[in-house]
Amino acid sequence: MLIELDHIQKTYDGRRYVLNDLSLTAQAGELIIIRGSSGSGKSTLLNLLGLLDVFDGGTYRLQGKEINPRHYNRYAELRSTLIGFIFQSYCLIDSISVQDNILLPFLYSHHPIDGAVLAYLEEILERFHLTPLRHKRVSLLSGGEKQRVAIARAIIKRPPLIIADEPTGNLDEENSQLVVQHLKALTQGGACVVLVTHDKNLLQYGDRTYFLHEGRLTE
Ligand SMILES: Nc1ncnc2c1ncn2[C@@H]1O[C@H](COP(=O)(O)OP(=O)(O)OP(=O)(O)O)[C@@H](O)[C@H]1O
Ligand SMILES: [Mg+2]
Repeated sequence: MLIELDHIQKTYDGRRYVLNDLSLTAQAGELIIIRGSSGSGKSTLLNLLGLLDVFDGGTYRLQGKEINPRHYNRYAELRSTLIGFIFQSYCLIDSISVQDNILLPFLYSHHPIDGAVLAYLEEILERFHLTPLRHKRVSLLSGGEKQRVAIARAIIKRPPLIIADEPTGNLDEENSQLVVQHLKALTQGGACVVLVTHDKNLLQYGDRTYFLHEGRLTE
């Protein structure tokens, strides 16, 4: 099992539990959709899954390894090899090229940009129709193009887990469909994708859909 969340508790202020006894499992090849009203804790959940924030109770196993919330500073390497992130606001560096953005994950890594990485870069540029744009500055791209760059960056290290927080929130219907179809294809290649979305048109792509309400997931 790739993800095992068991009875997770999360509070920011020590009083109100944003996640309260939340459990979730997910394995390779699955596309899991999380819905829920604004403020229900969807981003909080993704931040925990992505080792970006700590939790206050329960257990989290990622690829069978138990995550200790007191030792998050030890997880940089785990985060950089196991997890790819995609956000609504793209979080790209506008002033550098498409290609340099996609290779950013190697900046904070011991893994060199070797021939295999460059060959995979070519493959990804083709797959996301970015080859003609590869030397363009990201500030010159459309929203749909930016999100394709963000997906390419999320997968350049072939992480088994992709976390996507409203990745289509700034896109029109056509580009939203394209983005989720790319995410679906990643699961067919063996990745697990956890996707937060408000868009009902994307629900058809999920293997499982959950609703986050009062700190827990319901089907
Ligand atoms: N860093 C933080 N410090 C304190 N409270 C926080 C923090 N982040 C989130 N919260 C609170 O936790 C709750 C859940 O927030 P979260 O961002 O996870 O919701 P969400 O479901 O992603 O909402 P949205 O759909 O608007 O993105 C909210 O009440 C929010 O105010
Ligand atoms: Mg959110």
